Amino acid sequence: MITIIGSGRVGSTIASQLVAESVDDLLLVDIIDGLPQGEGLDLTHMAAHYGSDVEVTGSNDYRDMTGSNLVIVPAGLARKPGMTRLDLLQKNTEIITKISEKIKEYAQKAIVMMITNPLDAMTYVALKTTGFPNNRVFGMGGMLDLARFTSLIAGSLGVSYESVQSMVIGQHGEAMLPLPRFSSVGGIPLLDMIGEGEANELVEKTRKVAAQVIEMKGATFYAPAKSVADMVQSIVRDKKTVIPVSAYLNGEYGVRDLCIGVPVVLGNNGVERVIELKLNEQEQTQFMKGATALKSALGQIGLHK
Ligand code: NAI
Repeated sequence: MITIIGSGRVGSTIASQLVAESVDDLLLVDIIDGLPQGEGLDLTHMAAHYGSDVEVTGSNDYRDMTGSNLVIVPAGLARKPGMTRLDLLQKNTEIITKISEKIKEYAQKAIVMMITNPLDAMTYVALKTTGFPNNRVFGMGGMLDLARFTSLIAGSLGVSYESVQSMVIGQHGEAMLPLPRFSSVGGIPLLDMIGEGEANELVEKTRKVAAQVIEMKGATFYAPAKSVADMVQSIVRDKKTVIPVSAYLNGEYGVRDLCIGVPVVLGNNGVERVIELKLNEQEQTQFMKGATALKSALGQIGLHK
């Protein structure tokens, strides 16, 4: 059984994507009375349409997650227009600390996938509060940034999304690091297809596009839900897909004791291997900018000096 804690826009859309892909039985948990139960019923009817024999239930009681092997956490406050992800820090730390204590109590063996923003900081809070091994707690951020970068590359070249392979690492926030040097189109290096100036424009657009969506419709949820579903598939089917996730680093990329976006091999055991890219000086500087911002955010909540 997969538990999703937080049945708001992102949580319910993740559930709907997982039902459509017929992955596993689902439990939705939220603090709002009736909301997860209602989502559960609606999604059960959707499952009937798909002929997808998964059970979807809702609950306000964390105890019901007992026995879950995967817990996905999109609970807490979301950005409003004009806010950065880091603006949510204080309040969501309280929420994620409480939820992590419950996960530790009722789902000791679970893999935990964090979604709540600010993503890298909340992943670190969940890792430290549960005390689970590093491979079992990580966050979804880079996979979504990568989908945005991919869509912009494909759009600018007029090619199929399928032909584009891109990579985005670093902080899931303003200092994210889309990597044209590690992106390709039909196997051809991206920088052989477009000039550096054009690539830099796509990088800048990738950094800003989520804020634009929030400005226009108040939230993002379809693309995040599909990113989560792809990660879930890699875990439950032990596909060992190479995906950027917010993972705990202990010296890799010159960073110690932080969760930040890096490519990993994702399988049955969660983060099975961190892949270290050979960044050039400019890329490494940008990566460290994100790491430094994160350290200072964690300092604000008393988790880092
Ligand atoms: P939302 O406001 O629609 O839903 C949040 C839900 O969390 C609400 O139903 C609320 O009742 C519930 N909640 C709050 N405290 C809880 C607790 N202690 N236990 C259980 N449920 C609790 O917000 P939305 O749009 O679904 O966003 C959720 C989070 O996901 C936000 O922090 C947002 O910034 C983040 N997000 C992250 C993305 C990523 O790429 N990592 C992408 C999109 C959103």
